Amino acid sequence: MNFSEERNKRTAYIESILQRYLPPAEGYQKIIMEAMEYSLMAGGKRLRPMLMWETFRLFGGQGRKIEPFMAAIEMIHTYSLVHDDLPAMDNDEYRRGRKTTHIVYGEDMGILAGDALLNYAFETACSAFDDEETDPVQAGRALQILARKAGIYGMIGGQVVDVKESGHAVSGETLDFIYRLKTSALIESSMMIGAVLAGADKDQVSAMEKIGEKIGLAFQIQDDILDVTGNEEDLGKPVHSDEKNEKTTYVTWKGLEKAREDVARMTEEAVKELRRFDAPDDFLEQLLVSLVGRKK
Ligand code: IPE
Ligand code: IPE
Ligand code: MG
Ligand code: MG
Ligand code: MG
Repeated sequence: MNFSEERNKRTAYIESILQRYLPPAEGYQKIIMEAMEYSLMAGGKRLRPMLMWETFRLFGGQGRKIEPFMAAIEMIHTYSLVHDDLPAMDNDEYRRGRKTTHIVYGEDMGILAGDALLNYAFETACSAFDDEETDPVQAGRALQILARKAGIYGMIGGQVVDVKESGHAVSGETLDFIYRLKTSALIESSMMIGAVLAGADKDQVSAMEKIGEKIGLAFQIQDDILDVTGNEEDLGKPVHSDEKNEKTTYVTWKGLEKAREDVARMTEEAVKELRRFDAPDDFLEQLLVSLVGRKK
């Protein structure tokens, strides 16, 4: 298998889904549809829908019923970035290789574009109920996971503590809490939803939750590393944002070398747990391994 070719194929597939689910830019509120498209279609690794699709395949899922959820998770993730960049939060002006949404559309529209993406994500996911191939009980369960993992017990909760604990030292335990919520939660939900819609059982879904948690932690630590060692061109977002905002990160806590080791270790653990399942090919494993030394 040619990994980078396969990855490009999947990215193109995900972008076509996103394009299809985006609302047409029309009506008096047209500017909000434009701002949604601006942030959503700016590029980005599309990791969460990719993980969802791979987990769906891992449990024998077939057909297109997963697509509204793939679009929804990327909309929620994108909204989290639009809000994360706002002046009141990380105050960053560059994202996915473009000026941030609030710089181009103004702070008011930046806030509303984030709100719009979040709400439209649920409208999109709910369209699963219109698909005759989708079991409504599975769709309901998937929605429940999406809502929970994006909310105060998931991503939002993590962002709350991240913001609240800026500007002063933070314990390792608190940092771990922040990362599990702000970053792992959406990754967990991606894998759990993929499993649920493929008809996986409870134990299999909770195994995906555990694996997603590890992948998310490794992913956030690597993000912290890149904030120190990366470059803006590759990343498409500013470096040294964490320092500017006086954030305690895994790198300030444990140092670069230990951080790098832990990314590799956590990924290895996730891969090992994944091997218990009978994957149709090794794309998912290669994807996880590729994230360890990523430059963007
Ligand atoms: C950035 O996420 C925010 C974190 C949770 C670290 P990604 O690195 O997945 O951003 P995109 O989607 O590729 O832009
Ligand atoms: C944000 O973490 C995670 C979110 C839930 C948006 P960061 O603030 O480190 O993400 P970047 O570095 O701006 O992408
Ligand atoms: Mg942040
Ligand atoms: Mg940020
Ligand atoms: Mg960061």
